[in-house]
Amino acid sequence: MHTISEYRDEFITYLDSMKITKEPRNLYEPITYILGLGGKRLRPVLVLMTTEIFKTDFRKALDAAVAVEVFHNFSLVHDDIMDDAPVRRGKTTVHEKWDVNTGILSGDAMLIMAYQLFENYEPNVFRDLAKLFSKTALEVCEGQQYDVDFETRDDVMLPEYLKMIEYKTAVLVAAALKMGTIVAGASDEAQEQMYNFGLNLGIAFQLQDDYLDVFGDPETFGKQVGGDIIENKKTYLYLKALNSGSEVISKELEHLYSIHPKEADAKINAVRSIFEKTKADQATKTAIADYTAKAFDVLEGIDIEQENKDLFRQFGENLMNRTV
Ligand code: IPE
Ligand code: IPE
Ligand code: MG
Ligand code: MG
Ligand code: MG
Repeated sequence: MHTISEYRDEFITYLDSMKITKEPRNLYEPITYILGLGGKRLRPVLVLMTTEIFKTDFRKALDAAVAVEVFHNFSLVHDDIMDDAPVRRGKTTVHEKWDVNTGILSGDAMLIMAYQLFENYEPNVFRDLAKLFSKTALEVCEGQQYDVDFETRDDVMLPEYLKMIEYKTAVLVAAALKMGTIVAGASDEAQEQMYNFGLNLGIAFQLQDDYLDVFGDPETFGKQVGGDIIENKKTYLYLKALNSGSEVISKELEHLYSIHPKEADAKINAVRSIFEKTKADQATKTAIADYTAKAFDVLEGIDIEQENKDLFRQFGENLMNRTV
């Protein structure tokens, strides 16, 4: 076994060895740009870790790991267009640095490149990876559509929100783990258990993302703090605050989420203080801990060595306490 940072380094070395930029440059340069901005690389690390935990050389999983990271970055390029986001990983987003059309087409190319990487596997593994990926990618699209639909709805319920984040975010984390089990040829049961572990971890992960979007440190977060408030995103924080019991606060929040002021600071500050006053911030922290605990429960039931469970636990705890 290796440490989490060793897997990350191995992954980055492999990614860097791929020469992506060629003609036409306006198609490939944005791809090299976004992939080179870094990020936590958590999905590829999960692929590599899982492969080795199920007793297979992690190098066999490097192409699958690149595939999931390229897909993830594709989804970010399109997500930033949809969310009108100016900053990603501390740098200008692709559609702002180039333009929206460039973001659309470079994103499309990345989606195709991700699939292409599966061609390096033998037929049975190829089939299982491609099948999982197609299902996952379609669910991500569904989650993204719900996310956008919810911006203009004022009757979103908590279960709908949880389904939305499961689809837009958690299924890809779950798929990363399952990809590792597929490359390793693990049993169907192990594949499903690892997937369920990832699903709960992924829900906790998106809850934390929502939390950081409001309460993150602008110096280190790497994205525009308050972006979800500007876009009237119906997050866990919002839904908890709305149902906190005070009619006056609910009305104010609903009003704030019906406007699109040019200068957003006042709105962001007003919403942030409502989230604090209603303790929606604490409720979100609790939910993050609950879903992480749920993930660890699933992990306990999986037939792998204790030290490997500990490695995944450490991974989950790092995610829960992250600031980026
Ligand atoms: C951002 O994902 C999009 C979400 C699903 C919340 P990450 O937080 O994993 O982004 P990077 O890759 O580390 O930048
Ligand atoms: C991320 O949702 C989901 C996908 C990119 C598929 P967000 O819109 O919350 O992600 P960030 O915060 O922009 O990274
Ligand atoms: Mg976004
Ligand atoms: Mg989004
Ligand atoms: Mg977000």
